[in-house]
Amino acid sequence: MRVALGCDHGGFALKEAVLGVLHDLGHQVDDCGVMSADSVDYPEIAAAVCSRVADGACQRGILICGTGIGMSMAANRNPAIRAALCGETFGARMSREHNDANVLCLGARTTGPGLAEEITRVWLAGEFSGGRHLRRIKMFC
Ligand code: RB5
Repeated sequence: MRVALGCDHGGFALKEAVLGVLHDLGHQVDDCGVMSADSVDYPEIAAAVCSRVADGACQRGILICGTGIGMSMAANRNPAIRAALCGETFGARMSREHNDANVLCLGARTTGPGLAEEITRVWLAGEFSGGRHLRRIKMFC
């Protein structure tokens, strides 16, 4: 699939690790930056990634900041986005199966690279269960 990937300065190092996972798995990546650890405003990156998911250019998005919190708040302002902040693999899997999350948010200062890479793999592999869960996510807006 095609995945939009973005981070702020707090997530730059982890973005490089996640990019490696995406390439390993054979996904195409729209890298929306940033390309250095210079300070930026994370809502601008969240908007760039989410617009690619919302317009269908990318099937999924991944956003990384220091905690993942700011990115998830910003991403969920877009009505087409269901962003899940995940710090462990069970939640990552459930965010796909029950919530059809189309954006994964990671915290580079809260989640180590090994775990973040495993969360990314689990989340990308997860399938939406549909059924009652589709009814519920339709109630979001
Ligand atoms: C940047 O210092 C930090 O605020 C940002 O990466 C993120 O954690 C915000 O939620």
